[in-house]
Amino acid sequence: MTPLFDAHGELTHYIGVQEDVTHLRREQARVLRYQRQLQALAQRLIRTEAAERKKFAGEVHDQVGQTLALCRMQLAELTRELGGPAAPPALGAVCRLVESALQEARGLMAELSTPLLRELGLAAALQNLGEQLGPRYGLAVTVCVEIGRKPVGAEVAELVFRSARELVINVGKHAAAKAVELSLVREGGELVLSVRDDGRGFRTRRQVEPSDGGFGLLSIRERAGYHGGGLTVTSRLGKGTRVVLRLPLAAQRRRRVTGGGTEG
Ligand SMILES: Nc1ncnc2c1ncn2[C@@H]1O[C@H](COP(=O)(O)OP(=O)(O)OP(=O)(O)O)[C@@H](O)[C@H]1O
Ligand SMILES: [Mg+2]
Repeated sequence: MTPLFDAHGELTHYIGVQEDVTHLRREQARVLRYQRQLQALAQRLIRTEAAERKKFAGEVHDQVGQTLALCRMQLAELTRELGGPAAPPALGAVCRLVESALQEARGLMAELSTPLLRELGLAAALQNLGEQLGPRYGLAVTVCVEIGRKPVGAEVAELVFRSARELVINVGKHAAAKAVELSLVREGGELVLSVRDDGRGFRTRRQVEPSDGGFGLLSIRERAGYHGGGLTVTSRLGKGTRVVLRLPLAAQRRRRVTGGGTEG
């Protein structure tokens, strides 16, 4: 409202503009509803993916893995029957193929079900991750874990492990880095995973929308939000990248409209 005065300073009129914002409010409500639906969908996908992963790992183990193990035993038996070293060379070649298929099946099971994590615990599994991925991507990986003795819940441990793997693989795929520092610490009531590289860096705002089909960071952020935590990506061109995942240790599973920030 704007008051209007005459030459003597007397108030004569008010000028006002009224705008009907009902449609704007409706539109905002619609966008919010859609955002919540997308979030619910993402969370359902996360749960379905975990269940499917477990199921496939079981099938690879019980069917492919067991069949291959049986083949290996029978081939060894056959080799003995055919005179050991005197057995036809083709048999030796088949044995090696079966052995490598068995290794591949084991690798696949490890990818699907993180057995190392259950066997070794989070600290040793992260060390092992560094040892596996470093040579694969030509990176010097340093791993530092200081989380004390209190046990970490299985779901949170799995999320930390899978996120660490995705983040180190990201460095290998995108950063052209020499070194990666992976650290996991307890800070107050939170578990803090940090992955820092000395690579080429990137414009973080660009990857907020996964237009190029990249879902790694988005999926970590969504999972972190589901557990009441968040993800922060800090990167500068030519100056490397640091990704920090924070997860509350006490169960705080809840839905969030935003699951952590991205800095550029
Ligand atoms: N450490 C890094 N250094 C440089 N760029 C990075 C780094 N991490 C991520 N990026 C950039 O961010 C983008 C998004 O990463 P994100 O993990 O979400 O997807 P992606 O790795 O491309 O695909 P996906 O993870 O689905 O296989 C990458 O395509 C890359 O451009
Ligand atoms: Mg990725």
